[in-house]
Amino acid sequence: MNCRRIYVENFRNIESADLTFSPEINILQGDNAQGKTNMLEAVYLTALGRSFRQAGDNEMIEFGKDSCFISNTYCDSVREMNIKINLFAGKKQKAIEHNGLKVNRISEIVGAFKVIIFCPEHLSLIKEGPSLRRAFFDVALSQIRPVYINALQRYNAVLRERNTLLKNAIQSKENFDGTIDIWSEQLAKEAAFITVSRVKYLKMIQTYASECFRDMTSDREKPEFVYMSSSGLKEEECTDENLCRQRYSELYNGRHEREIAAGATLWGIHKDDIDISLNGSKARFYCSQGQQRSLALSMKIAEGEIIKRLCGGDYPVFLLDDVFSELDRSRREYLLSSIKNKQVILTSCELSNISDTAKISNSELISVKNGVFTRIKN
Ligand SMILES: Nc1ncnc2c1ncn2[C@@H]1O[C@H](COP(=O)(O)OP(=O)(O)OP(=O)(O)O)[C@@H](O)[C@H]1O
Ligand SMILES: [Mg+2]
Repeated sequence: MNCRRIYVENFRNIESADLTFSPEINILQGDNAQGKTNMLEAVYLTALGRSFRQAGDNEMIEFGKDSCFISNTYCDSVREMNIKINLFAGKKQKAIEHNGLKVNRISEIVGAFKVIIFCPEHLSLIKEGPSLRRAFFDVALSQIRPVYINALQRYNAVLRERNTLLKNAIQSKENFDGTIDIWSEQLAKEAAFITVSRVKYLKMIQTYASECFRDMTSDREKPEFVYMSSSGLKEEECTDENLCRQRYSELYNGRHEREIAAGATLWGIHKDDIDISLNGSKARFYCSQGQQRSLALSMKIAEGEIIKRLCGGDYPVFLLDDVFSELDRSRREYLLSSIKNKQVILTSCELSNISDTAKISNSELISVKNGVFTRIKN
């Protein structure tokens, strides 16, 4: 999959840019605060419908403007396609078009144009709390299986209803008794589908990330990724959807005292985590910065391999935001070798950080200054 051309208007500090990308390596180079990451964010927005920087729509619109616009013309091995997105200041609703047709919800096009973003903040995937690791699943699986994003949206909607019911259980006992079982059953159904999808996905991550580490460390380091069910589900219950649903049903339909006291649903996929270790030691506590970086990198490379395997043999577009300055020479070389034959859009302040990349023929060098993008060489 390639992003061929991106047109951006009033997006952050980019007043207007019209860029065509090479199907191989594209280097956005410029000083700090010039708009390099902003361009990656614009490309990402057309894939997932939101920022990868935890920014709301309003923050992405250029200061003082009412709206911003992005048009992404991309192709897979068969045909050329287009996504257009308008964001409006003060409005939640976006205007989206896919191949000229209006799209009502972004979830309808997630997975059409696929990207993998890797930036220094991804170290948090290993270091920080579980919410980033859950988000890793949710973004990765949404791009592969549209049914996943639908299940997730239904799960979150049912969770909100069930939590409201639990909060008000004492004041409105009759309403609680009459409806809790319905919400519990729906929650169990969605939770089972999501759990089983995540566990299967994590097994694939395990395979590809292990290959990555084997090559990167000459087989010295072995990563392990284990799904941690907050509901205490056993491994076999996380791989069989019927068994999983039955188990969640038992939890949700059991005695509600603790949940009523907490005013919230105590079990489910919104509390799960991934346990990540390297050579048997918990990565979060015992790994060096470099090892944590390598773990995050291996998960991202694995994500790309899984998309290729499951989605018609095409790699997603790799967006690498300032990652080379963070990696030592051997890891840099590994990353360079692993991004061959893929479209990559990368940012850097210093070309020396990616000197090997710059030497690769067919790399496109684009200078970025004050939100203006200028191609330097073909
Ligand atoms: N909504 C907005 N409107 C206008 N400018 C914005 C908006 N949001 C951010 N900016 C500006 O965009 C610039 C930052 O752009 P960006 O994050 O792309 O920098 P960068 O080139 O990636 O820099 P670095 O090398 O430091 O990562 C800042 O000058 C910031 O003030
Ligand atoms: Mg940046």
